[in-house]
Amino acid sequence: MVEELSLEQIVENHMHEDLMAQSQPFIRLMNQYRSAIMEMETKLKILDAEFSMEYDRNPFESIKSRLKSPVSIFKKLEKKGLPVTVESMERYLFDIAGLRVICSFEEDIYKLMELLLRQDDIRLIRKKDYIGRPKPNGYRSLHLILEVPVFQAGGPKKIKVEVQFRTIAMDFWASLEHKLRYKKNIAHSEEIAEELRVCAEKIAQLDQQMQEIRHRIDRDSGEEY
Ligand code: GTP
Ligand code: MG
Repeated sequence: MVEELSLEQIVENHMHEDLMAQSQPFIRLMNQYRSAIMEMETKLKILDAEFSMEYDRNPFESIKSRLKSPVSIFKKLEKKGLPVTVESMERYLFDIAGLRVICSFEEDIYKLMELLLRQDDIRLIRKKDYIGRPKPNGYRSLHLILEVPVFQAGGPKKIKVEVQFRTIAMDFWASLEHKLRYKKNIAHSEEIAEELRVCAEKIAQLDQQMQEIRHRIDRDSGEEY
């Protein structure tokens, strides 16, 4: 019989893969998060297909997904002073399953959100609109915490997924800013932060301008929606 280890024991054991394999409830939960990612991705792809039939373009450019690594999960729980258990993962961490949806235009982000929230098996847990209200550093994106049912032998279970919506330009900005954030000891980091703020504003203007141009093109060809 395989002995079940607590998450804490796993952390103490330096996250050895063999030991991980012994924690059945943990593995089961991670698989549910993995399923929730697939489910959300499918929902988005179905919306994409429908939207592109109706409006003759795609509402998003790409979707990226990631499952938070066990080490990051443990670190985050410890940092928040929470017990390192499967229960507290489910209750307090909203970003174990993550999707990033990259759109060409800002308004498509809101359209996609509306279409998603209209589905009656999706529940909105939290919304952070950093597009309407950018962060002081210039960060823009729309973050939703959603719950989707994952169907298992024992019936459906609601699983939380974090979905971040951004334009291509916002994503470009966020990747560069992320480098500054996680690299310590960068010379001139305050200067760089200020330049990034300036770039964020330019990018916001660019997004608006591109959207207006697209509207004009659609109008001229009689296809505006
Ligand atoms: P954490 O998930 O613990 O960060 O807290 P939270 O859930 O309150 O965070 P929030 O919804 O504000 O942001 C969650 C995620 O958005 C982060 O993990 C990043 O991926 C991204 N994000 C938020 N703020 C920034 C930022 O200023 N710069 C960049 N590059 N990414 C950000
Ligand atoms: Mg996070």
